[in-house]
Amino acid sequence: MHGGRRALFAANWKMNLLSSDIEDFLDDIIPVARESAAELVLFPTSVYLQKVARLTEGTEVKFGAQNIFWERCGAYTGEISAEMAADCGAKYILCGHSERRHIFSESAEMVTRKARAAQASGLIPLICVGETLAEREAGETLETLRNDIFCSLAAVGASADLVIAYEPVWAIGTGQVATPEDAETAIAYIRELIRELWGDLADEIRILYGGSVKPENISDLMACPNIDGALIGGASLDADSFAAIIANGENC
Ligand code: PGA
Repeated sequence: MHGGRRALFAANWKMNLLSSDIEDFLDDIIPVARESAAELVLFPTSVYLQKVARLTEGTEVKFGAQNIFWERCGAYTGEISAEMAADCGAKYILCGHSERRHIFSESAEMVTRKARAAQASGLIPLICVGETLAEREAGETLETLRNDIFCSLAAVGASADLVIAYEPVWAIGTGQVATPEDAETAIAYIRELIRELWGDLADEIRILYGGSVKPENISDLMACPNIDGALIGGASLDADSFAAIIANGENC
């Protein structure tokens, strides 16, 4: 808990895990969630949203969709809407993950439209921002964050029910975690940008770190006053490692 903000640990499973893996994972994680003061959110692929809904019913584990399209319904082959995710019991929508931005060419405007659609269906957007290695090496990290945050937030409704994840692109899936000092600097800066837009609401909005989070590095990250939790990819695929991240991170 930092500044009254409840810690949040989110598992971004990406395009991983099959039905039986999810069952095993939840057998292990539901008891962890019961004992934890932190909020735990899983992001399965959309084909398993209903399965995760069924398995987590009546538990403390929440879940969300990794991606949605912004229209409510219509001729959009292959897409799912925020309303459909909400209908499955999702509480969160991941918006603007770097893999969506870079592999699937999602623009800042698309990210905003998705975040707005999530809010319109009563879901919490978890918006990812972060600089590429080239931007970092050119000394453009803060400028990139300013652009990302201003684009993403300018058009969504001011709300404390919004989560930001600072995920430097060069740290995602590379084993190269940002130093706690660098992550804290970036995240404190993001909080100030939110303050410019939305005033004191900035103190209520949770900002996570993401990028090669592991049980071994989470404590130092969570010791930073502005880091409210983590968005975890690779190390969230295994229940033991996800549980160790929660145990090591939640009381810092
Ligand atoms: P990683 O992924 O933990 O495997 O680096 C983080 C993410 O993509 O959200």
